[in-house]
Amino acid sequence: MKTNRTFTMIKPDAVENGHTGAILEKINAAGFRIVALKKTQLTLNDAQSFYSVHKERPFFDELVTFMTRGPIVAAILEKENAVDDFRALIGATNPAEAAEGTIRKLYATSMGENAVHGSDSDENAAIEGAFHFSGREIF
Ligand code: RTP
Ligand code: MG
Repeated sequence: MKTNRTFTMIKPDAVENGHTGAILEKINAAGFRIVALKKTQLTLNDAQSFYSVHKERPFFDELVTFMTRGPIVAAILEKENAVDDFRALIGATNPAEAAEGTIRKLYATSMGENAVHGSDSDENAAIEGAFHFSGREIF
């Protein structure tokens, strides 16, 4: 079933570099409504579980080390066609290949440290949102 929500994290690199406000502004300007929002820090267990689909990949240890090294900002976003439109707004995984004006083009530094996460399907958006937020935190 198509839903109108996606899930994002502003990753530790972008939080460290002071880009949280600018990224939230881009998200608002693109027409997404923030229905849940928090600053938090992933434990090792959280990151391994969140990215378990990548556990056999060579970059897995690097990814969980990065994702746990500092706070993140997690959010659930609402908009028609949210998953695909948000992936378009953030740009390609590798910022060198990301389109002009995308969040990764503007704020990411490398393939690994790429500023933001965006869910890749409606199903994963629902799973990832529920991983971070309880019902009473979603508005
Ligand atoms: P994300 O899940 O964070 O939104 O990123 P994505 O869909 O664009 O990329 P994905 O293939 O799901 O990879 C998840 C994250 O792993 C890191 N990565 N590093 N060093 C590398 O070759 C490499 N490849 C992926 C990135 O942080 C990527 O966003
Ligand atoms: Mg992904």
